[in-house]
Amino acid sequence: MIKVVESVGASLSRVAACALASAFSLALVCSSCSGESSADAQGANAGEARRLRVGFSQLGAESNWRSAETRSIQEEAAKRGVELKFSDAQGQQENQIRALKTFIAQKVDAIVLAPKIETGWDNVLADAKAAGIPVVLVDRGVQVADPSLYATLIASDFVEEGRMAASWLVEATGGACKLVELRGTVGAAPAIDRQKGFMEVLAAHPGMEVLLSQSGEFGIAKGKEVMEAFLKQEGRRIQAVYAHNDDMALGAIQALEAFGLRPGSDVKLVSIDGGKPAFEAMVAGKLDCVVECSPLLGPLAFDAVEKLVRGEAVERRIVVADRRFTKELAAAELPNRKY
Ligand code: AHR
Repeated sequence: MIKVVESVGASLSRVAACALASAFSLALVCSSCSGESSADAQGANAGEARRLRVGFSQLGAESNWRSAETRSIQEEAAKRGVELKFSDAQGQQENQIRALKTFIAQKVDAIVLAPKIETGWDNVLADAKAAGIPVVLVDRGVQVADPSLYATLIASDFVEEGRMAASWLVEATGGACKLVELRGTVGAAPAIDRQKGFMEVLAAHPGMEVLLSQSGEFGIAKGKEVMEAFLKQEGRRIQAVYAHNDDMALGAIQALEAFGLRPGSDVKLVSIDGGKPAFEAMVAGKLDCVVECSPLLGPLAFDAVEKLVRGEAVERRIVVADRRFTKELAAAELPNRKY
């Protein structure tokens, strides 16, 4: 499932390793020499070794996907005996920056960050680097002048997800279709990249026309509201909906039904995430296709954190591979969905 696309030595991890000459770090180094896992080390040396302390800044809880990601990180921390300091920024980047500053002041061993948007992180990440605290980005990337400000990014390839959604729609419509796009949060990596990948494919198909495109902020209610506005403007000219996530597609389904259109029959819908509610909508015939984007990033995040604390190199970019499911495959796959 995991494809490593780039592998570099983590210079930051070496800084972190030097700075973290704590009893816990030493216990981890020793346990890794003896072949024990860090969890074993903590269990075996519970009396002596300090628990790993990790700060996790989550951007919010705007979608089913986001809540699943939070659970995955929290459950994995508990499983490994990590002391997790969790902060929910409630959709505000300022709150994330404040949380990071608090984690730095608390001298945590590492920070896991799911950033709301791509920009605005240079200063606080430079503070973390100066304090020798490695930062693991999960789910979304950032644009920083100095790439060494974070150790690794663990996330799906959002551009590829956009391409996968577009190529399905092109095939399903024979390359001729008038569609609307429900975009994610403005400035967020998945919104930027999912549009980029989608438009890249559409560029080769002049029969595919995007009538309207607007942000539904990755939420059900906002997705519904924007879809209602689209329907008011374009009505039955809309033949398909591309939603950057499941929740907005679920909101669009409600708007289409209220308008008297049958989602999945009169209007085709494709979304990204692949959560249980979307699979249920596919089984009900109301959603046509989903591109998976796994939020179950806890195990990968803590593998990276533990390596960094031990001073080991971590791949700079860890890509989580995604699959595509059409509604014909939904019933068989539904019992396997974990989020
Ligand atoms: O960054 C991943 C995206 O953020 C998910 O697709 C979406 O559901 C979430 O809010």
